[in-house]
Order: sequence, then structure tokens, then C-alpha cells
Amino acid sequence: MGKTYLITGGTDGIGKAIVKKILAVSEDDNDVIYVNYGHNEEKAKALISEIDKEQRHKLQLVKADMGSEEGLESLFDHFQSNDIFLDHIVLNVGISQYAKFDDYTFDMWNKIMQTNLTVPVFLLQKFKNRMNQNGSVLLMGSYAGRKEYSSSVVYSISKAGVVFLAKVLVKELESKGIRINAVAPGFIDTSWQASRAPEVRERIEKKIALHRFGTPEEVADITVSVLLNTYMNGAIIDIHGGYEYF
Ligand SMILES: NC(=O)c1ccc[n+]([C@@H]2O[C@H](COP(=O)([O-])OP(=O)(O)OC[C@H]3O[C@@H](n4cnc5c(N)ncnc54)[C@H](OP(=O)(O)O)[C@@H]3O)[C@@H](O)[C@H]2O)c1
Repeated sequence: MGKTYLITGGTDGIGKAIVKKILAVSEDDNDVIYVNYGHNEEKAKALISEIDKEQRHKLQLVKADMGSEEGLESLFDHFQSNDIFLDHIVLNVGISQYAKFDDYTFDMWNKIMQTNLTVPVFLLQKFKNRMNQNGSVLLMGSYAGRKEYSSSVVYSISKAGVVFLAKVLVKELESKGIRINAVAPGFIDTSWQASRAPEVRERIEKKIALHRFGTPEEVADITVSVLLNTYMNGAIIDIHGGYEYF
């Protein structure tokens, strides 16, 4: 019997690389990967066109805004009304907005915390009863949630919550044998990093022992490996090329 996967924010960046990696390791023709996105239809269509024709039937796009309770409800409805149970969930959506501490507003705090932490919490509250025995959950954290960066206070705190969630929910999921883990990437070359000034990028690269940003594919490799490894549970995996290790 095929396995069912849900990847949130799967049409670009790290999420897209995860979708492609799952397809690369998928051997069962009945596997189905539900790829969520929130806004951009063009990017969603582009993803489908990048996939080999023989594999396309394994992808199902599901549009729902993972920054809102309504979006979460509509995503859940999709699975409930079609009586679909999931084996593997990757909660990958995350947002950030850099600002000085003095410039943060309640709205900025609430938007980032809601998307990065609140929606994943309540999504898992609902979906744990829509998951098959021995399934797994992977939360996309950030190394910014492992180490204190004063330049992105709200983002860091939200991601610290995300990685902690991978530990505190282990017990909740125990009865169904569902595993939960988190991956915490450092600086990864997605559209997020594109707007950085060259001198800022250079400064960051000097702090990384490998002197480069990571690729979405490198994060996807470890993510899918942790997702599918049947003994990984309650773990947080850092992937940052040796950031500030010297
Ligand atoms: N890039 C990095 O350096 C880095 C480092 C550490 C951790 N991370 C984490 O890795 C994750 C992915 O980051 P990324 O850099 O790959 O981001 P990205 O390139 O901006 O990925 C965007 C994807 O997320 C979707 N998305 C955005 N907001 C959404 C929403 N409200 N609802 C549903 N889908 C939404 C986008 O689709 P639509 O545009 O259609 O909504 C698209 O599929 C995030 O959790 C981020 O915090 C990234």
C-alpha cells in the first residue's frame, strides 16, 4: 500500500527540494504527496512542470494559508472530507521579518508567531487523529532557534518554540507510534537570502567553516532521511556547515 505525505510550503525553496527528494526515494506507484502552498499559483504550476511525467500523478496540490486558523481548517477539511489519512507530515512553512527590537509591533509579533508556531501546534492537534499508525512528523526549525541572534528576535523565539515542540510532543504521539523530529538549518540559499547585500553575505560566509550557504537539496536530504528513519524520535538535527565553530 502506498504512503501519504503532506508538505506545507512545498512549492519553493526547502519545501520544494523536500518534495523532489521524497519523489526520488518513492518506490511505490501509489504514494501520494500532498503539496501545500499559500498564494502563488504560478510557482505551484511550475513545480508540477518540473516533475517527470511518470511521477506527476503522485503530486496533489492543496492551496491553504498556513498563517491563519481559517487556512488550517480548510487544509484539515480537505483530508477529512476525502477521508484521507497521512503517514508523514513535514511542517515547513515559516516566515520572518527583520526589524530592530524597538521597531517590533504587536502585529509583527503575532503574524510571525502565528505562522511559525501557533499554526503548527494546532495543525498537529487536529492531524494526529488523521495519521496512520507508525507515521512521522518533521518540523522545520532554524539554527536561529538554537542560538541567540539579536537581529531576529521574534523569528528566533518562534523557531526555538518549534524545535522544543519536537520534544514535548513525543509523549502525545506515543500511543500511535508516531515519531516527531525537527531540523534546524543555518543559512540556506533560497529566495530568503537573495536580497542580502553582498558584503553582509560575505560576513556571514566567513563565520561558516565551509564558507558557503547550504543548498535546499542538502537540507532536503537530511529532512527526508530523518522523516523516514524508523528510530529517530524527539531529535533536533542542526545543519549549518559549521557555523561559528571557530
Ligand atoms: N532559507 C533559509 O536560510 C532558512 C534557514 C533556516 C530555516 N529556514 C526555514 O525553512 C522553511 C522554508 O524556508 P525557505 O527559505 O525554503 O522559504 P521560501 O523559499 O520562502 O518557501 C516558500 C514556500 O512556502 C510557501 N508559503 C509561504 N507562506 C505560506 C503560507 N502562509 N501558507 C502556505 N504556504 C506558504 C510558499 O508558497 P506561497 O508563496 O504560494 O505561499 C512556498 O511554497 C521556513 O520554515 C524557514 O523558517 C530557512
